[in-house]
Amino acid sequence: MIANAQIADSMQFHLGTLFDELPARPEFVQGIRRAPARHFNLCRKDTELALKNALRYVPEKWHAALAPEFLEELLRRGRIYGYRFRPPGPIKGRPIDGYQGVCMEGRAFQVMIDNNLDFDVALYPYELVTYGETGQVCQNWMQYRLIKRYLEVLTRDQTLVMASGHPLGLFASSPDAPRVIITNALMVGCFDDQENWHRAMALGVANYGQMTAGGWMYIGPQGIVHGTYSTILNAGRAKLGIPADQDLAGRLFVTSGLGGMSGAQGKAVVIANGVGIIAEVDRSRIQTRLDQGWIDQTTDSPAEAFAAAADFQRKRQGRSIAFFGNVVDLLEYAVHHHVRIDLLSDQTSCHAVYEGGYCPQGISFEQRTELLRSGHAGFKERVDASLRHHYALIKALSGRGTYFFDYGNSFLKAVYDAGVKEICRNGENPLEGFIFQSYVEDIMGPILFDYGYGPFRWVCLSGRPEDLEKTDAAAMACIDPERRFQDRDNWVWIRDARKNRLVVGTQARILYQDAIGRMNIALRFNAMVRAGEIGPVMLGRDHHDTGGTDSPFRETANIYDGSNIMADMATHCFAGNAARGMSLVALHNGGGVGIGKAVNGGFGLVLDGSDRVDGIIRRAVPWDVMGGVARRAWARNPPSIETCIQYHRLRQGKEHITLPYLAEEGMVAELVGKAFATLEKEK
Ligand SMILES: NC(=O)c1ccc[n+]([C@@H]2O[C@H](COP(=O)([O-])OP(=O)(O)OC[C@H]3O[C@@H](n4cnc5c(N)ncnc54)[C@H](O)[C@@H]3O)[C@@H](O)[C@H]2O)c1
Repeated sequence: MIANAQIADSMQFHLGTLFDELPARPEFVQGIRRAPARHFNLCRKDTELALKNALRYVPEKWHAALAPEFLEELLRRGRIYGYRFRPPGPIKGRPIDGYQGVCMEGRAFQVMIDNNLDFDVALYPYELVTYGETGQVCQNWMQYRLIKRYLEVLTRDQTLVMASGHPLGLFASSPDAPRVIITNALMVGCFDDQENWHRAMALGVANYGQMTAGGWMYIGPQGIVHGTYSTILNAGRAKLGIPADQDLAGRLFVTSGLGGMSGAQGKAVVIANGVGIIAEVDRSRIQTRLDQGWIDQTTDSPAEAFAAAADFQRKRQGRSIAFFGNVVDLLEYAVHHHVRIDLLSDQTSCHAVYEGGYCPQGISFEQRTELLRSGHAGFKERVDASLRHHYALIKALSGRGTYFFDYGNSFLKAVYDAGVKEICRNGENPLEGFIFQSYVEDIMGPILFDYGYGPFRWVCLSGRPEDLEKTDAAAMACIDPERRFQDRDNWVWIRDARKNRLVVGTQARILYQDAIGRMNIALRFNAMVRAGEIGPVMLGRDHHDTGGTDSPFRETANIYDGSNIMADMATHCFAGNAARGMSLVALHNGGGVGIGKAVNGGFGLVLDGSDRVDGIIRRAVPWDVMGGVARRAWARNPPSIETCIQYHRLRQGKEHITLPYLAEEGMVAELVGKAFATLEKEK
């Protein structure tokens, strides 16, 4: 057998070259949230395998010391995190100049990774979970150390390959290729399910990247505030008859979750000038949002919550109220006391419903954590019962005029999985969707994604707030607020962004824009970097966008040509971005709706002020969006067809999109009707 000494000798970098001696056992800062123990159910052989897998990162001289420690982590926490290799104390996305690196991209990615693990940003920073209960940067701290080292030595002639958190290595490429290519949890079709994923995670061969956690582009809860604001505002316009130039004054939005993304809800409802009550079972998360000023007040009484809301509704003032307790208890009160709710949703982590993402009614958050560890089977039954009751309450409220929408957290699918078939439109299975709509189906899809409007974002890598201010002003100057109401909303958003104090972690901004809007803003920023007006900028977007994600329960919920079960769009988006030279490209399984339910991808582009980057912006940024618009147009979505026709005018001779001819519905129905009648007779 090949000797470990030979293996060590052949590698320039490994943990043995990064550490002279084994780092000390870590100390955990009190008050920092910890991931619940993930249910441990590996058999004896698999447990051995998991241990050997983790020890692959560790020089042989430390195996005897670390093997028992890793085994204990696996048995107690359900995963091997390798805590000992975590840098002690808080991690922060520092200004780019504070990082070592041969190329700017290598240093920029380090800023992004560290921001994803910041105590103020990440959900469970010790377990490398950025958000969404299970969304991790990588699997363990050994990987983190190696990734950081590779990024320090990465050159413009190399690409770092990231396979489910594992840095496979640096491979020769070219300056026009991505510097990092990331994939997460891409499982082979017949194994692409919760059970196999759970095993693969415990074995240390899969990482759940969620979206921007494993794609290294998370920018704190701000990343989702703009989308949440647009969703609830447009839900009000579409469903409550609020005119396009007005806000949610006097209206009540009830929802749940003050976690990673859901924590944006309190802020977004106040920016939209509505009143929100947000149920949350974990007091520490309420406290985080209170400290940030994203929640105005808190109570553990449903009666008090609704009374306070009514007061602010009367005054037509924006207000965010946290209800400390289970959302099912809150809705029970509303049903029994005939409280009028205008908009209703849910943002518990139902994509990981049995992993702790949804706390069932009747037990506290702490009891849920304990049950997850000790009695998983009983826990599942409780979750299912709670979801069924939750659904019944929503049905009662919607029967009284409340507009309920699924907030992309797989809530409706979770209710179906809990045994409620009547939630399906066809009464049988989710193939034709659910009786309640998802926010993408009704709102985000037809109003934003179909036009190409999506969550464009950037990070000022200098860490200087004044750079962010300059980019805000430059982006605002690129928007024509008179073109469409969406442009006016975006213009208002960026005008008020600083006032709304949205930054948590690095100096970052989110701004919904369409293809050409994003390209123009990116070119403007790159020119500013070139002129020395600002430091370098990392550009990117949420995966939750027009073209980046195939997800029938969310991003592609408004695709009605049957192709909502296909993942060609997200895969092409990823490959096309790589071909056009984005600095970082990522492709993941799962995302916000859960394993096997979505394929999603994203990108990062480092603006260094060069002409080379101008070229990438012109080639890649419009593709990133228009690939998605073109697919939506092919699915016959009218706003996308309209957008493609405009795009053709703009890019004549350079690009060409295949557009669909529209068949006359009556003609098709009549023809098929007759054919079926004949078939029936022939039977
Ligand atoms: N905001 C968006 O635009 C958006 C978009 C897509 C998907 N999502 C989805 O929303 C979900 C939430 O994301 P997150 O990052 O906030 O996750 P998270 O796990 O950080 O937060 C969810 C919160 O819900 C709380 N919770 C769980 N059960 C509860 C219950 N019964 N009553 C009250 N509170 C309860 C948890 O304590 C937790 O704080 C995910 O499924 C995510 O994929 C959100």
